[in-house]
Amino acid sequence: MRLFVAVRLSDEMKEALLSAQNALFDRGVRGDFTPEENLHLTLAFIGDYPDPGPVLDALEMVAFSPFALTLEGLGCFGDLWWAGLRGSASLEALARRVRRALAEHEIPFDRKRFSPHITLIRRARGKLPGTALPSASMTVRSFSLMRSDRGRHGMIYTELGAKEAAPASE
Ligand code: 2AM
Repeated sequence: MRLFVAVRLSDEMKEALLSAQNALFDRGVRGDFTPEENLHLTLAFIGDYPDPGPVLDALEMVAFSPFALTLEGLGCFGDLWWAGLRGSASLEALARRVRRALAEHEIPFDRKRFSPHITLIRRARGKLPGTALPSASMTVRSFSLMRSDRGRHGMIYTELGAKEAAPASE
């Protein structure tokens, strides 16, 4: 099965991203828009792996405290357009810990440098505007092991387990 580790987004964050997608569509942008339920932030891509058990054991080792994520700006990797995130030092630290835990448990993952983004459109056609992102924030209190399956109408992502942040200290 195809696995990845991701932060699931709050409803408020998804609403903001959805309205950004709609604004882009209204400007004439076309492509494969990520459906609202599939919007997420990938921390590590594992790919084909036979058993989620050892992966969940590895993720259980990752300690982190809750932190804020704020949307900031649109960007692209070629024709993949994404929403970026501000002040992502805590996010970078979380991705590093997740990846270290996977490595320590000898679970292979894509070693490409982490570049935090939320994919909005694949195979985008049109002109990327300078601004089109409403402001939105959320607190990250957990991350998830996700399974990815190709459905009849696109990708289907299913949560297999989650690791919660340690309670914030007083
Ligand atoms: P994305 O993060 O750019 O959207 C499931 O496939 C998720 O893992 C997607 O969100 C996907 O892209 C991300 N991902 C990261 N590296 C990947 C890779 N090498 N192959 C496929 N998906 C990858």
